[in-house]
Amino acid sequence: MDFYLDTADINQIKEIDKWGILRGVTTNPSIIAKTGRDYQEAVSEVLAIMGNRPVSVETLKDDAEVIVEQGKKYREWGNNVVVKVATTEEGLKALSELRKLGIPTNATLIFSLNQGILAAEAGANYISPFVGRLDDIGADGIGLVEDCVNYVEENGLDCKIISASLRSPQHLEESAKVGAHIATCPYSLLTKALKHPLNDIGLKAFLDDWEKAKKKLKK
Ligand code: E4P
Repeated sequence: MDFYLDTADINQIKEIDKWGILRGVTTNPSIIAKTGRDYQEAVSEVLAIMGNRPVSVETLKDDAEVIVEQGKKYREWGNNVVVKVATTEEGLKALSELRKLGIPTNATLIFSLNQGILAAEAGANYISPFVGRLDDIGADGIGLVEDCVNYVEENGLDCKIISASLRSPQHLEESAKVGAHIATCPYSLLTKALKHPLNDIGLKAFLDDWEKAKKKLKK
């Protein structure tokens, strides 16, 4: 499973990049708004840091023609842009048009298998089921990820499933177990996922033991 960061915070991207696991970034208008910066300025900095790794950049209107124009414009900012499109009627039209133009897309706000199937069949290169937001209303977010993975794989579609809206380390492990191709995570989730109390206790004991042994050797 590939790990993406769901952020536009440059410091978070730089930090996780040092871990050697960062394969891409996803953003959305709420995430960009948090930076307090101009949309293009904030996105361009992320694109530059990520080099040739994909960065999803969301379009800003539910109108197919406008989405396609925005998508073309975003691709001028960087050839690692993946155009993120909300899964609506207008979105489907834009996804199929962008596919024809060879512009990669990520169909976002997927809350049902039907939406996932339609977006994948329309030509989305990635689809993003929103696990946390489904779980918040008592639905089965991970089940949807699994269903989407099965559908694209059984039908041989050129479409990767991004497990999105992840809230907990459990979501991350479950995404891997059901075969999500990608998990996009907030920074705080990745740092939490790495932690384990037995790891902390074990490391402390190893280091303490060695300090004691060193003192004995010096005597
Ligand atoms: C995915 O591409 C979205 O940006 C993101 O995962 C949404 O997460 P949220 O439900 O925590 O806002």
